[in-house]
Formats: sequence, structure tokens, C-alpha cells
Amino acid sequence: MSLRGEGVWAAPGRVNLIGEHTDYNEGFVMPFALPHTTVATVARRDDGVLRLTSADMPGGAVELHVDELAPGGPAGWTDYPAGVVWALREARHAVSGADIHYESTVPTGAGLSSSAALEVVTALALNDLYELGLERWRLARLCQRAENVYVGAPTGIMDQTAAACCTEGHALYLDTRDLSQRQIPFDLAAHGLELLVVDTRVEHAHSDGEYGKRRAGCEAGAAALGVEALRDVPYDGLDQALARLEDPEVRPLVRHIVTENHRVERVIAHLEAGEVRAVGPVLTEGHASLRDDFRISCPELDLVVESALAAGALGARMTGGGFGGSAIVLTETSRAPTVATSVLAAFETTFLQGPRVFTAIPSAGARRLS
Ligand code: GLA
Repeated sequence: MSLRGEGVWAAPGRVNLIGEHTDYNEGFVMPFALPHTTVATVARRDDGVLRLTSADMPGGAVELHVDELAPGGPAGWTDYPAGVVWALREARHAVSGADIHYESTVPTGAGLSSSAALEVVTALALNDLYELGLERWRLARLCQRAENVYVGAPTGIMDQTAAACCTEGHALYLDTRDLSQRQIPFDLAAHGLELLVVDTRVEHAHSDGEYGKRRAGCEAGAAALGVEALRDVPYDGLDQALARLEDPEVRPLVRHIVTENHRVERVIAHLEAGEVRAVGPVLTEGHASLRDDFRISCPELDLVVESALAAGALGARMTGGGFGGSAIVLTETSRAPTVATSVLAAFETTFLQGPRVFTAIPSAGARRLS
């Protein structure tokens, strides 16, 4: 039994099925939640102290004072929850402290949104304990603000919304312009299919500036075309738009975003028509676009895609921010062991470090456990 003023909450990691780097261009994304979660045991306190501990991080407890939270502090994992408290208080929600203990099964640095899980579990717990009454999309926005301003990573809204709003057995079709969403049934097992996640164990990082450079390039493209965001460039007007762009660096970025938004719509159409196998080639096209136009893949991610396809997978692509992290592979269930073995064998002959492979089951979003 939990006491009033304390409880346990969980928020999941995610993979993105399709729609990469479209979120900060006000476009479409389609993530789903993983069974891996960050669990927070939280007790409210009213003395202004935020005390953070983690079973997964060395270094013991970190004590902060909520009045003193400000962007630009010491970098570390506690920035994410501290940033959430800061964002809540900035938005005039009277959060006056908490004891929070975290324990996580979301792999870190794997492009599976461990930071969004950490942010969202914190926001949901505080929302409940302090009876703030904030809707989930609003919690996601506050978590994004924590990440953008407090942590200093210029990310979009996908990961936080995925952690907050995904539901079991579904992928989340999200319009990142107005945050309208639809839960799309995504039961691969019923179709004899499986989605593998291959974590290359190449640590990705957004803060090295490449993510920000892509974002700035996209914004420059939108400005040159006189639109609010690249979301506004129609797919059937792409050639004319590209012809109007003078900067050779910007052109392929624009092409990726416009074709990627179109790929999200194609995937939705296939899923709604029950043609789940037809999603495979769209994923592979998406990878080529991220590799050649957006230039955020890496040899390890390319090897996953090539070796999986050579072993008979239906489609494969990198997922998440890029420069490492994870890839996803869509395969017939009957071929999944062969595909996984082939990917592992390809790594063994090429790289020193092998990847981690697991099957992704579309799982629940953030929730209170007790
Ligand atoms: C990271 C960011 C997201 C999104 C993806 C790329 O995961 O946090 O906002 O931009 O990269 O699709």
C-alpha cells in the first residue's frame, strides 16, 4: 500500500518506426514504446529539497534546492530530472521538492530515448503528487523544454510524447505541428512478423553539434523557401522547391524531410490496409535517405541494414537521432533467428564490438505503478 504523498511510476524507452528528424520541422513521426522502462519511486517533500538517487549511476545521492535550479549547471544525469522540476516551476507549478529514486532498464546512449523516459517519469510523478492536473501532451512539452533549455540539447518533441502518450500494441502517429495523435494498431505477431532492435553500441550524442547543425540547415531551408517549417513543402512540389534552393548543403536536408514525411504517410496507408509487409521497403528507403541525404548514419548502422537485408529481412533502417545508437529490422518471424545471426556474424568480421539484438514489443506509455 502506498502512502499519500508517495508512489512508484514508470516511463518507457521508444523506437521510432518512421519519421526521422521530422519533428523539429513540424512534420510526422511514428514511434512506439518499448517494454524497457525507467521506474521512479517518489516521495513528495515540502522543504525545497530535490534529492535524486539512481541504482544505475555511480556517485550516490545528489541534493539540489528547487529555488536554485538554473540552466547551465553541472552536466550529468541529474540535469534531466532537475530540468523537469525547473520547467514545472517556471510554468508556475508549485513543486516544492521530492525524494526520487530511479532504476532503469532502458539502454543509455543507444538512441532509445533513455533521457525522455527519465524526464517523463519525473514529470508524471510530480504531476500526480502535486495534483497539477496537466495533460500528457503538456507534460511532454515541459520535458522538451527541460531538455532544450536546461540540458541544452535542441531536440524535438517526439521522444517525450512517445514516452508520455504511447499505448500497448500501438504505434503513435503524431503530427508534431499541433500534437494531434492517433494510436495505430501495430500487432506484428498477428501477421507473422517481428521487429528487431539492433543496438550497435556505438554511443550517439546530440550535444556534439551535428544534430544542431542539421536542425539549423533545415531551418535555413524553410527560410529560403518562405515557409514556416519544412512540413509545409508538399511532396509533389519537391522538385520545384529544390530548384529554388541555392545552398548545396541545404538541398539534400530538405529532400530528406519532405520525402520522410511522405514515407510516414505511406507507412500509415500500408498499415491501415493491412499490408504490413509493404512497410519493409519504405523503412529501407528511409535509411538510404538518412545515410545519403541527411548524412547521419555510420558504418555500423549501415552494416546492420545491409546484412539484415542480405539475410532476407523485409526492411531495415537506423532509428533515432543517428551517428550510432540503434537500427530496426522488420522480418518474418520465421526468419528472425537467421537475420539476427547474420547481423552478428557480419559485425564479428568487421568490428571489434558486437551489437545487442532484441525483439521490440509495442508497449505501454508512462503510468503509475503503485
Ligand atoms: C532524437 C530527438 C528527437 C528526434 C530524433 C530524430 O531522438 O530527441 O526529437 O529529432 O532524434 O528523429
